[in-house]
Amino acid sequence: MQFAGSHILSVDQFERADIERVFEVADRMEPYAQRRRITRVLEGAILGNMFFEPSTRTRVSFGCAFNLLGGEVRETTGIESSSLSKGESLYDTARVISGYSDIIAMRHPAAGSVAEFAAASRVPVVNGGDGPNEHPTQALLDLYTIRKEVEHSGRSIDGLRLAMIGDLRHGRTVHSLSKLLACFRNVSLTCISPGELRMPGAIVEFLRSAGHTVTETDNLEEAIGHVDIAYATRIQEERFSSPEEANRYRGRYRLNQAIYTRYCEPNTVIMHPLPRDSRAEANELDTDLNENPNLAIFRQTDNGVLVRMALFALVLDVAEQVADHETRVTWYTGKRFND
Ligand code: NCD
Repeated sequence: MQFAGSHILSVDQFERADIERVFEVADRMEPYAQRRRITRVLEGAILGNMFFEPSTRTRVSFGCAFNLLGGEVRETTGIESSSLSKGESLYDTARVISGYSDIIAMRHPAAGSVAEFAAASRVPVVNGGDGPNEHPTQALLDLYTIRKEVEHSGRSIDGLRLAMIGDLRHGRTVHSLSKLLACFRNVSLTCISPGELRMPGAIVEFLRSAGHTVTETDNLEEAIGHVDIAYATRIQEERFSSPEEANRYRGRYRLNQAIYTRYCEPNTVIMHPLPRDSRAEANELDTDLNENPNLAIFRQTDNGVLVRMALFALVLDVAEQVADHETRVTWYTGKRFND
């Protein structure tokens, strides 16, 4: 694919070589993300960071990634604090904000909204999640994490055995990650969910027709025994018609250390896009896993910065100039990245 000047809206845009290109650039971003070096390659550029749904890590890591490349960030958060609440169309908002920005990252509750916005934008738009539809940058950071986690034991994404757990119907992260996995070879995907919250049939069929194995079950204990990765998700309560309906599923699947020890292979990697719902009635990923070295959730969030830096560098066509704009770090940086 041609990265320079392109919108990043869906994982459908990526072929295997494109994914590998993103990963190769992401690897080179580590010294900057870890504050060992500074680059000013995007000095003067502005990111319009538009988040019309709750977000912590996606919004902040998009902003940090842009800052770490030397650019500035302007944020709009919440429909109620933007003119969308006065009846302004996505078209008009896109025309306006794209006059103020060099690139835009956007999250919105409606499926297809980010593509609609991008069609009117004068600058590239990166999808930070459009309703239950897609979350392409999360899928890329998840896959980047998977690659790093399994390569220690000589494994790769080809031949990977992965279980996705929870609300697979509404979870945009699992939709995008499943489709991205289809670019590789011989993946075995186990979908663990209540019957009503199954992975959309079109995604299951897409994987099967690309030669992968997909198994669907509602039994967590039986299914997590033979996987490299257990990827838990939150019940997407905001996609249900009422909180009571979401409550029917909350707490159905709980992964904790006792279940992990009893059922999982010793080095199964535990992932979650976060936020994990840590309220007692949900608790899909227990905090008693926090000291488990196979819990990769905070490595995922750190990797999110690298992958988003890589995408900005590729779309703004500076990936090969990053090192030409280096300066030294002058402040105390601590040991936070060396644990
Ligand atoms: C996810 C999302 O917003 O889709 N979070 C994220 O971006 N890391 C998952 C979720 O909200 O459950």
